[in-house]
Amino acid sequence: MTLPENSVLVEARNLPSHVGIIMDGNGRWAQQRGAPRVDGHREGSKAVRRIVRAARRLGLRALTLYAFSEQNWERPEGEIDALWTLLREFLMSERDELLDNKIRLNAIGNIGRLPGLVRAVLDPLRRETEEEKAEMTLTLALSYGGREEIAQAAQKLARDVAAGKMRPEDVNHESLRAQMPSLEFGDPDLIIRTGGERRISNFLLYGLAYAELYFADVLWPDFESTDLYAAVASYQARERRFGRVGKPAPLLPDAKPLRLVG
Ligand code: FPP
Repeated sequence: MTLPENSVLVEARNLPSHVGIIMDGNGRWAQQRGAPRVDGHREGSKAVRRIVRAARRLGLRALTLYAFSEQNWERPEGEIDALWTLLREFLMSERDELLDNKIRLNAIGNIGRLPGLVRAVLDPLRRETEEEKAEMTLTLALSYGGREEIAQAAQKLARDVAAGKMRPEDVNHESLRAQMPSLEFGDPDLIIRTGGERRISNFLLYGLAYAELYFADVLWPDFESTDLYAAVASYQARERRFGRVGKPAPLLPDAKPLRLVG
């Protein structure tokens, strides 16, 4: 069987259950075309649509997209307004697609800070899709920050200790993680960042302790389903050890042991 040139082989077993994506590069995509940054975000929202479909087809259980960080509020007002308009349009146009494909919509972050025009579509859609027996949960991280999430979880436990509801020694990584909305559907197994930078930018900090990281040079608006498959195939080729000892890496057939001098 000959496969199309751009095809990627993904195994049906050993799929990551939860994938998080830092969608970076919209601004540069627009800049390369001499277009306003907003054009990059518009093209980026088309990429969101195709990657959600691809993730569902692949059989992922949870997909978390970093759509707006707590720090993104520092951007020019016009860009922020355009992002919220695009998000609203996305939510309105994808409603049936989400329901038909058993995708539950979830949101994490400082949702109370979002403009009313976004909440007006986000909140009902969250409720509507919650009723479905979901096959995949799509979480949008909106006004989200990993450090902020950790601080809030710590605050909640501190209040419980102060109120005598729990003992200080019960503050541990399990009780902390139980307070983190980003981990409701499990720790992320794979974090993808597009756009060429190699950093985490305050995304899912607590949950990514043992996540595999995948950095793609392609800008988010150009990220195709085959790029997602390539990231998943890369994940499948790795050995996750969670701090334990794993199988020793096989030596190449003709490899000689290295002699270290010093
Ligand atoms: C980062 O690119 C991207 C964002 C801050 C926003 C992501 C938003 C979308 C993909 C569109 C709307 C979202 C949804 C869910 C429909 P950047 O602007 O930092 O790019 P740059 O690093 O090239 O400047």
